[in-house]
Amino acid sequence: MELRKLSSADIEAVMALEHSSFPSDAWSSESMGAELDSPNCHYLGLFDDSLVGYAGLSTIPGSFSSDIQTIAVSPRARGKGLGKKLMLELLAKAKALGSEQVLLEVRVDNEVAIGLYKSIGFERIDVRKRYYQPDDVDALIMRAKIHQPLVLGIESTCDETGVGIVRGNRLLANALHSSMDEHSKYGGVVPEVAARAHLEAIKPTLEKALSEAGVAMRDIDAIAVANGPGLAGALMVGIGAAKGLALAHNKPIYAVNHLIGHVGADVLERGYVQLPTIALLVSGGHTSLLLVRDLLGDAQLLGETIDDAAGEAFDKVARVLGLPYPGGPQIDRLAQTGDPKAIRFPRGLSLPKDMAKHRFDFSFSGLKTAVARYVEKAEREAVEINPADVAASFREAVVDVLLTKALDACELYGVKRLLLGGGVVANARLREVATERCSSAGIELRIPRFSLCTDNGAMIASLGAQLVMAGHEPSSLGFGAESTLEVTTVQTL
Ligand code: KG4
Ligand code: ZN
Repeated sequence: MELRKLSSADIEAVMALEHSSFPSDAWSSESMGAELDSPNCHYLGLFDDSLVGYAGLSTIPGSFSSDIQTIAVSPRARGKGLGKKLMLELLAKAKALGSEQVLLEVRVDNEVAIGLYKSIGFERIDVRKRYYQPDDVDALIMRAKIHQPLVLGIESTCDETGVGIVRGNRLLANALHSSMDEHSKYGGVVPEVAARAHLEAIKPTLEKALSEAGVAMRDIDAIAVANGPGLAGALMVGIGAAKGLALAHNKPIYAVNHLIGHVGADVLERGYVQLPTIALLVSGGHTSLLLVRDLLGDAQLLGETIDDAAGEAFDKVARVLGLPYPGGPQIDRLAQTGDPKAIRFPRGLSLPKDMAKHRFDFSFSGLKTAVARYVEKAEREAVEINPADVAASFREAVVDVLLTKALDACELYGVKRLLLGGGVVANARLREVATERCSSAGIELRIPRFSLCTDNGAMIASLGAQLVMAGHEPSSLGFGAESTLEVTTVQTL
């Protein structure tokens, strides 16, 4: 027997079964067709030679609750457990969607159905008088509670030690320690310094997260850890801590992809993630453009930087201008009073000749050199420069190239959604231009709150929870740090 998701292409078979199952109050073909294709609904059908049963679930995004819309099994196929099979499939789907409860209505005189629902965990919570017309029969309201996994996530890919805790799709804690100050005298992240700082920060950050969430280690259902991409030495500290906790407390462990974690962060913002999306991830460590159709199974790297990361370019140009580390916020502030059109700095990999091989790749080292040349030339010729104009023109070049490529990807792949992630998302001009360009192109722009954009443990916990909720097996303890982990590997088994 085949089980598959239904769409309005199956309408004829569904309506035939609907009429034979509910002779007095069958749905109309129009409303059933709309249900089958609704993005908030999930209808499953069971087939032998033809459709013998179907059932539907509806989930309002962000509500943490689902409803069983209908269920019907053909008279010739009853007594074989097919109704139960369909219901269990829908409960699993509700769990994967982050629902904490599933509700249904059933006729009080339908004892067989009530017995089935009770056997799979539904309890009676209310009665609606004379709900079913014209038969004038009461409806019993039943509810099944769903345990959503409590997951602790550890992030140590770069200079942030993050420990987050989620329950399913809900954010409970997001504790963070940054070693950024320790890197400031070097003008950039020093891997050994970052690794040592993680060692010192991991225990207090873990304790802070547990107390913020009001839970103890014994309550945790699973541990997730980012095992790449990132700095090898830094990753090893988080991985070591996660494995130690998993062993000491006998918990399953999930090794997850840091970049996909950035995309999954949006789950915590609205209770679900809307896909497909183009994701532009820009930080001090990475600049990546992704096409994500399925968080757990279908992510594609469209392009990335071939030299410096976007944040790194900000940090390096800040140094040229004599500004302290981290340079991003400094340049952003200085640029406010400058003219973005004062100097025309190059847009890397944006020429027609670059389109064949590097349409969605980025390069910022030429831009950084151009700024340095501009400043050196002025010094040599003893001409005074306007630092605000340099900052504004540089910022404009970075923002322009990032968003031109991101929107080009939306257009090429027909995806009407753009998600931003990474520390550079703090940039005021990036937000402004993204808002303008997305609105004129009819693209939905998603920017999670800043604490979920920068590297953090909650997004790692969230991705781990998605894996648990969808029934994926934990990783074995053999996994290691993968500094160049591909985005196609969501979980290292
Ligand atoms: O994601 P993030 O906090 O972590 C790492 O990459 O480790 O990103 C930090 C980067 C730094 O390079 C910083 O200069 C940049 O994000 N950044 C900014 C702004 N705020 C932070 N870049 C441009 N404009 C900003 N306002
Ligand atoms: Zn990151």
